[in-house]
Amino acid sequence: MTASTENRGQFGSKLGFILSAAGSAVGLGNIWKFPGKAYSCGGGAFLVIYILMVIFIGTTVMLGEFVLGRKTQKNAIGAIRELNSKFAWVGGLGVLTGFIILCYYCQVGGWTIKYIIGYITESSTIYADPMSYFLNNLLGADRFPVQGAIIFPLIFLFLTAFIISRGVAEGIEKMSKILMPLLFILLIGLMIRSCTLPGADAGVKYMLHFDPSTIDANAFLVALGQAFFSLSLGMGVMITYASYLSKDDNLITNTGIICFLDTCVALFAGFMIIPAVFATGIDPGIGGGFAFATLAGVFMSIPGGTIFGILFYFLLFFAAVTSSTSILEGTVAFLVEEKGMERKKTVVMVSIVLFIIGVIYTLSQAHMSIKGIWISREGITYPIFGDFMEYLTDRLLLPLGALATTVFAGWIWGTDNAIKEATTDGKYKFALAPLWAFLLKIVAPIAIIIIIFAGMFLGMS
Ligand code: PFF
Repeated sequence: MTASTENRGQFGSKLGFILSAAGSAVGLGNIWKFPGKAYSCGGGAFLVIYILMVIFIGTTVMLGEFVLGRKTQKNAIGAIRELNSKFAWVGGLGVLTGFIILCYYCQVGGWTIKYIIGYITESSTIYADPMSYFLNNLLGADRFPVQGAIIFPLIFLFLTAFIISRGVAEGIEKMSKILMPLLFILLIGLMIRSCTLPGADAGVKYMLHFDPSTIDANAFLVALGQAFFSLSLGMGVMITYASYLSKDDNLITNTGIICFLDTCVALFAGFMIIPAVFATGIDPGIGGGFAFATLAGVFMSIPGGTIFGILFYFLLFFAAVTSSTSILEGTVAFLVEEKGMERKKTVVMVSIVLFIIGVIYTLSQAHMSIKGIWISREGITYPIFGDFMEYLTDRLLLPLGALATTVFAGWIWGTDNAIKEATTDGKYKFALAPLWAFLLKIVAPIAIIIIIFAGMFLGMS
């Protein structure tokens, strides 16, 4: 059953939409994932490749998602079904991917709250042994992780669900209008603090130095995969968000602004973390513990580090909550509009299911190095599940979703229709329309296919 779209919310203002979509894009991906990748893939050279990927592929796919959503004013599945009913599965794939990502995103989001409190109340315990603090409190290496798997993820999920249950303008838009500017201010403040530390200039140089010898196929693959995750593409989230826009909105400039803001945040985060890491001489490493365990070493060794730490986790929390709400909105909009379910009940139901899966994710994290499906330790049986979820979404489902969306918009629905919608039937100028059509039909699909295969066979980091 397809419910009518009459009672759908709408963003109340142009700025509200931009900040909400930027809020979706700016998340754990920018602040925690990006600096680690920039560091390990060659610093300055990686930044150049990343920016090129955003300009040529990221903006292309984002505008592709925007036109589908705004044209139909429907959730991801409804939008594609309306344009061609044989391809509704394309939207379904995105909603499924979002749901799986959200299961673990809410867990990690919960950890940011634990760390805000941790730095306020017991920073010396964190500094004494950052890795044990992380493992014992969040992952439950030595006991069942009540805080890391249940209490803090529940608080985070409750906040996400509460915001979503209030609808688009009252929930998402209001939150983003407050949190996004705050996030920018915090980030810029922390970046300046970090870049002015004694010894930080080596990190700044590393991030600015273009060394072509560090460019290899892997750097391209990592950059493209990171760009999709960071720009919230491939899950139909941007289709859903654009469905709340009116015909007056200029999708082309919105795409440019959102990609620009997201990339700025990633770069600022890079210049916040890497110089601090160089200044303290700590090996940044990459992986789950980076934002939680490794950074404690940085905060411990810089003047005013604890304040720096508290602000950092606030920042991470804001970024995470504005992203998690966008993913939940994708799933909820689908169930409300396609299955005729009631909004608040849907939010509760979806939250319960994703919370249960999320708990299993965290339980399995403490034992990442152990191969097998289940592991028994001190009387508790843990599933090895988390790795699989991330592998499935980051390397396969997300790029597949982006591929299906570009092929659908470029070939099935067609670039003429897409350009008409992008320009609101010619109302807005779009000098680069032929280039966009070429990128959408040819370049983006080929690049994504390469990513999917390379991710599977080369072992993308
Ligand atoms: N873009 C978010 C981040 O960088 O953390 C994650 C994300 C949100 C991915 C929404 C996909 C999505 F649809």
